[in-house]
Amino acid sequence: MKSPIRVAVTGAAGQIGYALLFRIASGAMFGPDQPVILQLIEAPVEKALKALEGVAMELDDCAFPLLKGIVQTSDPAVGFKDANWCLLVGAKPRGPGMERADLLKDNGKIFIGQGQIIDAVAAADARIAVVGNPANTNCMIAASQAKRLPADRFTAMVRLDQNRAQSQLAIKAGVDLTKVSDIFIYGNHSPSMFPAFAHAKIDGKPATSVITDTAWLQTTFCETVGKRGAAIIAARGASSAASAANALTDHVRSLVTPGAIHSIAVKSNGAYGFDADVWAGMPVRTTTPGSYEIIQGYAMDDFAKSKIAATNKELVEERSFVASMLTS
Ligand code: NAD
Ligand code: LMR
Repeated sequence: MKSPIRVAVTGAAGQIGYALLFRIASGAMFGPDQPVILQLIEAPVEKALKALEGVAMELDDCAFPLLKGIVQTSDPAVGFKDANWCLLVGAKPRGPGMERADLLKDNGKIFIGQGQIIDAVAAADARIAVVGNPANTNCMIAASQAKRLPADRFTAMVRLDQNRAQSQLAIKAGVDLTKVSDIFIYGNHSPSMFPAFAHAKIDGKPATSVITDTAWLQTTFCETVGKRGAAIIAARGASSAASAANALTDHVRSLVTPGAIHSIAVKSNGAYGFDADVWAGMPVRTTTPGSYEIIQGYAMDDFAKSKIAATNKELVEERSFVASMLTS
């Protein structure tokens, strides 16, 4: 039996937390032979901490063989202590009529403090995955506070967008979901994101040779994927939770699986024209568990270049918006 790894989760009593923790404890995230200790962090608010007690009771009641301990705390120094993975979910969700960037003022500061504490107390091999919105820029904020942990340990989630794009292509082509591959998300987790359909494959063939309606690909498809979060809020009255928890499970599972090719938001190295130092979605290949290389060299036509320029511009603007927060 492997030794347990420590997995810290913020916002553990929230909507996503409730759908996520049971997947981690069941082995869906780290594999069926990897025991885990869950370090659950909530805001120092009585209602949230009480709800967390209930969630911990339910985890006990599942009798998961891989779950070797549960820590419940509102103190991030306790919750992130020796953590091998820090899953940063805890943040305000948006409501109807808001964009995710509208959350930056309130949520951004959470990631300053958490970035500092993770850098001080997490395990030497710590990996950080950010879900709280706006995820790309919050990830950049957390990474900016780290002196010990390198920036490539900090990733943000665009896997929900990749999964959404895969489903939409399968529905349009009338094929089983498993026939769709190589669909990657570039840029921000916002309506400006670019699902690069020209590289996607359907049953091994270029998606553009199966779905020949270019207007649909450039407009309906990109908009449906980009605005899916808002559509779910409009329908459900609350933001996506189960699908977000599922996407984070996929994000981490792919990151611990050498050879996996998937979309994550990482610190730009200038590839595809993204500004250095923004966190942008792009395709990566997992090298060793928790590490990855950016896949470079996908050719971009003029349409793709203009979409990437627009999403890059938004990321640069978000970075400027929080610049004073990073140094104060
Ligand atoms: P929620 O309101 O149900 O839960 C958030 C939880 O975080 C609450 O329990 C709250 O008490 C806690 N929290 C707040 N500040 C905290 C802090 N400083 N430390 C620890 N816990 C803290 O929200 P949710 O639906 O679970 O969504 C969480 C975040 O994830 C939101 O920002 C949402 O927009 C985002 N989200 C991102 C994606 C994505 O694809 N990147 C998808 C869905 C949701
Ligand atoms: C999503 O994409 O579902 C989340 O980012 C929640 C939101 O605010 O859209």
